[in-house]
Amino acid sequence: MTGGWNVVYLSTVLLFTTIIFLIFKALRNPLRHIPGPWHSLVTSYPLKLDVLKGRRLHHIHRLHLKYGPIVRVGPTELAVADIDAYKIIYRAGLAGFQKDDWYFGLTDFPIKAVFNMSDNKEHATRRRMLAPGFTKTNIVREWQPVVQENTKLAMRQMHVSATALFGESFEMLMAGERNQYIRDLEKVMMWGGLGYEFPMLRFISQHLPPLPFEVTLQLSSAAKTISQYGQKAVAASRLTNTLTRNVFKTMIADAEKGLPSLTDLDVSVEAGNLQIAGTDTTANTLTFLVWAVAKRPEIQLRLAQEVAVVREEELNDVRLSQLPFLDAVIQETLRLYPAVGSSLLRVVPRGGADLCGYAIPEGTTVGTTAYTIHRLSSVWGPDAEKFRPERWLEYAEKGISGVSDEAKAAFNPFGGGSRSCLGLHLAMMELRIAVAMFYREFKVSMKVAEETTDESMEMEDYFVIAPKGHTCVLVAT
Ligand code: HEM
Repeated sequence: MTGGWNVVYLSTVLLFTTIIFLIFKALRNPLRHIPGPWHSLVTSYPLKLDVLKGRRLHHIHRLHLKYGPIVRVGPTELAVADIDAYKIIYRAGLAGFQKDDWYFGLTDFPIKAVFNMSDNKEHATRRRMLAPGFTKTNIVREWQPVVQENTKLAMRQMHVSATALFGESFEMLMAGERNQYIRDLEKVMMWGGLGYEFPMLRFISQHLPPLPFEVTLQLSSAAKTISQYGQKAVAASRLTNTLTRNVFKTMIADAEKGLPSLTDLDVSVEAGNLQIAGTDTTANTLTFLVWAVAKRPEIQLRLAQEVAVVREEELNDVRLSQLPFLDAVIQETLRLYPAVGSSLLRVVPRGGADLCGYAIPEGTTVGTTAYTIHRLSSVWGPDAEKFRPERWLEYAEKGISGVSDEAKAAFNPFGGGSRSCLGLHLAMMELRIAVAMFYREFKVSMKVAEETTDESMEMEDYFVIAPKGHTCVLVAT
């Protein structure tokens, strides 16, 4: 045989061996009885490619539309969009499904924090330590003045430019441009997720001198920078009565009394995680809100009229919680544009589980995306895709504790069970105050600028959702 024939022969043998191996792998996959694309029996690369493009939730939504409420998205991962299954996966308590290790891979921090601890017991202990800083009473007492002050400053800045560039932290609004802190936070989510999906990229970025490519440069710097912010927060929390001191004060007080508490490294990693969890989530929710409202002048008018009657000195969480339309607009934004709209991945515990009528083996990764369950027409009606805050008032009129039972079970912008959002009260207070101040200031005069299109506002999914174009320009007319 000539050299050329040798190559053909070897390639054919290799190809056949690979095909036989893949068929064997597919036939033995314990998830083969679950609906899903054939390739997901052997690879999750099509999903990974969409993760790379910031389109994980769109990928999963498309599969749900085609295959139904439970779908295999990779050889060991299922996506689930069913309310009964949701209640099983995200049930509270120590026996609940644990978080997938994916969460730990998301960041490069050396140890786990409350957000990404997978062991339920370890998580419960940590959450008990942090929870006192996040109660509604504590949030209103300690943080309300800070939120009010920062929002006022943001409004002043917006008047100067006559253009509202939401989608940024209040701090950035004050500076009038994206500051380095915000850029670093965005980077850590995006590149952290990619580093998990493509471990080789992370390995290269950690072990070789940075290559002159965007991806490796970003991977090598993102987590380091956020760790430094975390360390600064620890130093500040020990020195002053800052926001961080408020969050960590129980632990710091315990440590000062010689009681078991967290190490400095624990606190700095928690602080780093909180900055990631708490900044872009609220800012991007505001971005989608003002954009969606600017597209519907009648909603803008109704909202502006409702907040106009509140006296200046009453712009606080208690008073603003009583405004039904403000609440409806915020809920509708969280429904259609949930800031954490992606898969919240969990692991099926020992003994397996019954989900959507299928027996799912233990160890399988399962997750629900808020994006899909917030758009189920079986729950939200034929206009599920439409931004229509009035639906929340209609639920309230029906008198079923404000919201229909089905919608209540399906509406989970802050996650579910023991792992639901720790910052819920802070986020809601920020949203109420910011939205009320914004529409008192600008009344009915905001319009979407030409450069902001439906396409630029498409949701980009690097775990925290952002508009694809990363800005939303509104013009004050
Ligand atoms: C609109 C704003 C926000 C939304 C939509 C949101 C949403 C969520 C969701 C869906 C989860 C569950 C994640 C999962 O199961 O994987 C979560 C967890 C968490 N959030 Fe938020 N969040 C927001 C704001 C905040 C803020 C302001 C903070 C704190 C400053 C915060 C801190 C946390 C923490 C610490 C966790 C982990 C809780 C645990 O595992 O015990 N979030 N958030």
